[in-house]
Amino acid sequence: MLQSGDNDAELGNYGIPPIGLGTYRAGGYECFDAVRAALDMGYRHIDTAMAYENEAVVGRAIDCSGLDRDEIFLTTKIKGYPRFLDYDSVVEAATGCLDRLGTSYVDLLLIHWWNSRADMEETFGALAELVDSGCVERIGVSNFSVDQLQRAMDVSAIPIFTNQVEHHPYWRQDEVLSFCQSNDVVLTAYSPLAEGRVVGDDVLTTIGAEYDKTAAQVAIRWLIQQDHVVTIPKTVRPPRLQENFDVFDFTLSEAEMTRIDELEAPFWYRHNREGGLVYRARGVVGPVAERVVPASVLGKFT
Ligand SMILES: NC(=O)c1ccc[n+]([C@@H]2O[C@H](COP(=O)([O-])OP(=O)(O)OC[C@H]3O[C@@H](n4cnc5c(N)ncnc54)[C@H](OP(=O)(O)O)[C@@H]3O)[C@@H](O)[C@H]2O)c1
Repeated sequence: MLQSGDNDAELGNYGIPPIGLGTYRAGGYECFDAVRAALDMGYRHIDTAMAYENEAVVGRAIDCSGLDRDEIFLTTKIKGYPRFLDYDSVVEAATGCLDRLGTSYVDLLLIHWWNSRADMEETFGALAELVDSGCVERIGVSNFSVDQLQRAMDVSAIPIFTNQVEHHPYWRQDEVLSFCQSNDVVLTAYSPLAEGRVVGDDVLTTIGAEYDKTAAQVAIRWLIQQDHVVTIPKTVRPPRLQENFDVFDFTLSEAEMTRIDELEAPFWYRHNREGGLVYRARGVVGPVAERVVPASVLGKFT
C-alpha cells in the first residue's frame, strides 16, 4: 500500500498523490478510457463515489491498467443520507463499494456529506471497524464544516485523514484549510477549476504565460503549493488529462500565490454561492449549505 514519501507526483508529502483524477459526471466507456489514459500518463490517484454510479467502470479500468492495485490510491465515498450512516448501513455500503470496484480494499473511504439526523458515534465506529478489518486503509469526510470536522475527530478512534471540500481560486476555504493545517488533516480540493470556469481567467492566464502554462495549470499549481492540499481535477479528454498533470516543473512565487489568493470571483460566481443558491454537496460547508436548488434554477445564474 502507498506509503508517505517525498514530494513527488506519485506520493506527495502526505501519503496521497497530490493530483488525482476526479470522475464526477463521467461514466461508461468515457470514464473507463479516461481512467486508463490517466493511469498510463502517470496518475496514481483516482476519486470516485457511490453517488457517481461509476465505481464498477473505475474498478474495471484499474484492473485493465496493468498496474498492481497497490500502486494506485483509490478513494470512494458513502452517500451522506441518514439511511447510509448508521453502523450496519456504513458496513453494508462499504461492502457494496468494494464489490462494485472489484477490489479487496480502498485507500480512502469518505462520508460524502454529513446529515445532522445521523449519529456520528455510529458512523465513525463502523468506519474504525472497516479499517480494523483491513478493507479500508484510511477514513475521511467531505463537505464537513470546521465544527462537524471537530466533532468527527472527537468521536473517531482513528485519525480523519482528509476533508474533501470545494476549494479553488473562485471559492477558497480559508477557515477549513487553516483548521486542517493545524490538525494535520489533508484538504482535498474538489472542483479545482471551478468546473472548468477558471480557464478563461485573465490573472491566471497572465501568470501562466510567464511559465508557458495555462490558466488551468496555474490553478492546480496554486492548490498543490498550499500546505496540506491535494486536488482532483476531472476531465475525460486525454490532452487535458496531460495538461492538468503537467504542473510539477514550475513553482509559483509568493507574490503570485498571494495575487491568486486575492482574486475576486466573477460576480455570477459569487452570486451563485453567496446568494443562498447553494446546495450542500456543491461545497459550501456550514449552515448556509442547507438548501437543495434544482439545476434548472442554478443554471440561470451560471
Ligand atoms: N465531495 C464532493 O462533494 C465533490 C463534489 C464535486 C466534485 N467532487 C470531485 O472533484 C472532482 C473535480 O471536480 P469537478 O468535476 O466538479 O470540477 P473541475 O475538476 O473543477 O472541472 C471539471 C470540468 O472542467 C473541464 N476541464 C477539465 N480540465 C480542463 C482543462 N485543462 N481545460 C479546460 N477545461 C477543463 C472538464 O471538462 P471535460 O471532462 O469535458 O474535459 C469538466 O467540465 C469531481 O470529478 C469529483 O471526483 C467531489
